[in-house]
Amino acid sequence: MAEVTIDSTLQEDRLFPPSTEFSQQAQIKSLTEYEQLYARAKADPQKFWAELAETELHWFQKWDTVLDWQPPFAQWFVNGKINIAHNCLDRHLTTWRRNKAALIWEGEPGDSRTFTYAQLHREVCQFANVLKQLGVQKGDVVGIYMPMIPEAAIAMLACARIGAPHTVVFGGFSAEALRDRLNDGKAKLVITADGGWRKDAIVPLKEQVDKALADAPTVKDVLVVQRTAQKIHMEAGRDHWWHDIRQGVSADCPAEPMDSEDMLFILYTSGSTGKPKGVVHTTAGYNLYSHVTTKWIFDLKDTDVYWCTADVGWITGHSYIVYGPLSNGATTLMYEGAPRSSNPGCFWDVIEKYGVNIFYTAPTAIRAFMRMGEHEPNARNLSSLRLLGTVGEPINPEAWMWYHRIIGGERCPIVDTWWQTETGGVMITPLPGAIATKPGSATLPFPGILAEVVDLEGNPVPENEGGYLAIKHPWPGMMRTVYGDPDRFRRTYWEHIPPHEGQFTYFAGDGARKDRDGYFWVMGRVDDVISVAGHRLGTMEIESALVSHPAVAEAAVVGKPDEIKGEEVVAFVTLDTSFSPSPELSAELKKHVVQEIGALARPGEIRFSEALPKTRSGKIMRRLLRSLAAGEEVTGDTSTLEDRSVLDKLREGA
Ligand code: WT7
Repeated sequence: MAEVTIDSTLQEDRLFPPSTEFSQQAQIKSLTEYEQLYARAKADPQKFWAELAETELHWFQKWDTVLDWQPPFAQWFVNGKINIAHNCLDRHLTTWRRNKAALIWEGEPGDSRTFTYAQLHREVCQFANVLKQLGVQKGDVVGIYMPMIPEAAIAMLACARIGAPHTVVFGGFSAEALRDRLNDGKAKLVITADGGWRKDAIVPLKEQVDKALADAPTVKDVLVVQRTAQKIHMEAGRDHWWHDIRQGVSADCPAEPMDSEDMLFILYTSGSTGKPKGVVHTTAGYNLYSHVTTKWIFDLKDTDVYWCTADVGWITGHSYIVYGPLSNGATTLMYEGAPRSSNPGCFWDVIEKYGVNIFYTAPTAIRAFMRMGEHEPNARNLSSLRLLGTVGEPINPEAWMWYHRIIGGERCPIVDTWWQTETGGVMITPLPGAIATKPGSATLPFPGILAEVVDLEGNPVPENEGGYLAIKHPWPGMMRTVYGDPDRFRRTYWEHIPPHEGQFTYFAGDGARKDRDGYFWVMGRVDDVISVAGHRLGTMEIESALVSHPAVAEAAVVGKPDEIKGEEVVAFVTLDTSFSPSPELSAELKKHVVQEIGALARPGEIRFSEALPKTRSGKIMRRLLRSLAAGEEVTGDTSTLEDRSVLDKLREGA
């Protein structure tokens, strides 16, 4: 593991307390109220979560044990019976929310649809019955590879309703990436669409599914939603149009009473080594955690229009477009499009059109908007906004200030939310009516979350010193295991830091420091993962993709700081001797990576090199490559380098 290096020059003293008006109407109204909640949760976490589980969720049967903790394996609300789709839909139907907008959707070409809770419930029930008709049973894994259309959320909720764990694969991933995930999850059925709209073009999703299924033997059926109406191949006996198969199917489908610990979904995330990890989340704990965090952090009110711009293929889409907001009976907005040259102001159009009150996006998007200038947002009426959020990577104070001034009109608190696919929901964040913000800091841990910055022995490090971000007590939204590989779960998250004072410690893999007010400053990954546009890409995966090309002998991939995307992929490549470097080959390799993994992983730069810097045990020293890629002086320890001349050659080649 690389040592943590801290940019101690980042000295940020500005403090932004919420306005009195905001605090007075907020769910959590003051720092004192937050501190009391935090202290209560810390003193007796089980009591704290049990009370919330009781008041915030509907149960078919109450649990008999709040927490069963056999480190690192946790079970929450043992023997409880619950269904998250029921909590997101059915329970609202007996209230005035029955005819409230649950989901507002805006398509990229400008079409739109709105579903009330009653309508969404009906759609989900019918979808669930179709799944059953196709033989999907409780426990069967269903792959979802969809554009950002309402049916993506409907499909997730339909799976949850009948107890079929879903695995949503981001629509930007390639056929190969989809295939690997379907095979790892042993998916029985895939839900997709003929295509989706993105940046004025059609993403040919069904075509990718066809390619993936050439080598995914467990998948028996494909359910295809029509979105773009372009011509696609439909395999007889395997592929079914949703609009055909739903004809005459009943919309009466009771929610399956699920065990608290039944698997709700698998979501794949890149690790630093080897294949992607299937992060497993279960039913009750995830339902509770996504529900409570949504309510307090986004300060949801029944009158709000809430918009999270993430894709449903990421955990943010799961927790904060679908499950968290709907469980709260909120109005959640979903947008198919992305800012594009034909409409760089499309986000601001959507905010104006629907009077969006709460807006949650990523630093990478904010930086892209900054580059486009103030003109677009200034030309729209954004006065409906009352709260802003960011997630995905550390936000640089400059982008934070721009967001605050230009989008928030200096009146909206910003919640900078730190969390991970593995944590299920936000862990470190301002509660917007209670906690004053500092640009670039995710501020304080959520009640019930015992976050700490520690060294590798698990000892807390002194104020303002860099260390490893760690969590000291289980929480309901935590991942339960790596699908099919509990040992990898233990190794990756629970063995880096030994138990400290009897407490097992979750290792988040991020470097962080705490300032004198106890505020957390997250500094990014400490391992070899590249964060492009807020998405973690495993260097290993990209390297394997490169090496799968006949010309490539060896590859090492590192991130290079990029103003817009956070990081850009730079690949150092050693060629097979029968090939020689050329711009054509460089272009071909970039294309190859896109095909193997997806456009997100496309290297911005390929550097050919005769050899790579390695340790004597054969481990590539990415730290050195990172400095080279960034054009910095290579400093620090190079004594473990096997062949020092390699470094000189690489420098000359630069
Ligand atoms: C990693 C998790 C959680 C949904 C989006 C990404 C980085 C996330 C922040 C933040 C600093 C952040 C961390 C984390 N990260 N949010 N507010 N400040 N860093 O999910 O793909 O699981 O990535 O994203 O490095 O470990 P993910």
